[in-house]
Amino acid sequence: METIFSGIQPSGTLTIANYLGALQHFVQLQEENDCYFCIVDEHAITVPQDRLKLRKNIRSLAAIYLASGINSDKSTLFIQSEVPAHTQLGWMMQSISYVGELERMTQFKDKSNGKEGVSSSLLTYPPLMAADILLYKTDLVPVGDDQKQHLELTRNLAQRFNNRFNDIFTVPEPSIPEVGARIMSLQEPTTKMSKSDENEKGFISMLDEPKRIEKKIKSAVTDSEGVVKFDKENKPGVSNLMTIYASCTGKSLDEIESAYSGKGYGDFKQDVANAVIDVLKPIQDRYNELIDSEELDDVLDKGADKASFVANKMVEKAKKAMGLGRVPKKK
Ligand code: AQP
Repeated sequence: METIFSGIQPSGTLTIANYLGALQHFVQLQEENDCYFCIVDEHAITVPQDRLKLRKNIRSLAAIYLASGINSDKSTLFIQSEVPAHTQLGWMMQSISYVGELERMTQFKDKSNGKEGVSSSLLTYPPLMAADILLYKTDLVPVGDDQKQHLELTRNLAQRFNNRFNDIFTVPEPSIPEVGARIMSLQEPTTKMSKSDENEKGFISMLDEPKRIEKKIKSAVTDSEGVVKFDKENKPGVSNLMTIYASCTGKSLDEIESAYSGKGYGDFKQDVANAVIDVLKPIQDRYNELIDSEELDDVLDKGADKASFVANKMVEKAKKAMGLGRVPKKK
């Protein structure tokens, strides 16, 4: 049994990319592992958020986790800001991070590019992410491809801490799916699909109605060739739809190519839309039952208690290793 940790930001309603790249794998992993799944609300405030929307998104994300199949008897589901150990260890991790290495993070460059008044937390959130992971002696972190660089930093920080102070952290490995690790925008298939994209046509929200899903997929940018073929370089739009279709159905890219050989994009897009709707519909039904339920609060209360219990112990070890506070009294 391995320990698994992964987090998702409540920075909007999750997209099919978050589901295919991350969430659907969490559900499989919980069967045989000790899993911690986190709503990383402190990461979300690295860019401006409307406080009412943020609150709504946090609850909504918790309901989506459960509706997608996260089972609170098997996994620990909790909200990051309800477990203060995360920011405590996050600060310690910041103190061993170098500004230069944080400035090299692609996500920092992308999110700060051309913006005025970029928050310092946008730069320092990767050490907080490292803390999130290291608190639980995590072996494996299931993430999409975009988080690879942050995971590499987490590994470096764990090793740096272990070498400099005391060998207390497990150095985690990323687990990145073979298909679906980078789903692209439907409107700009060379940039990744993001829940905070201003162009709503670029992403499929996990709570989009079937008609809306169909409309978005039918208007997805493709090309004029009319051939369903996987070629990321020259046919990024079609390749992206093929990846979505493969991840939703379990079919291989080769199978999909031959099934649509000689047909245009019309049938193909309709089938992609149906496959996405088939995946999302049961999740949406369960979501509607959960969103205002007490059950949801009970799960989150239980999750915060369990996570705090484990995380506080690691914070104490890290403080001791760094020489923070006083020598603990003998009991
Ligand atoms: N396009 C993607 N394809 C596959 N997986 C993806 N993930 C994100 N985008 C894609 C994976 O989803 C998990 C949760 O991501 P996150 O919410 O922590 O932040 P993010 O990676 O920054 O995701 P977004 O949707 O792009 O959010 P915003 O717009 O707020 O920045 C992660 O495992 C991620 O890899």
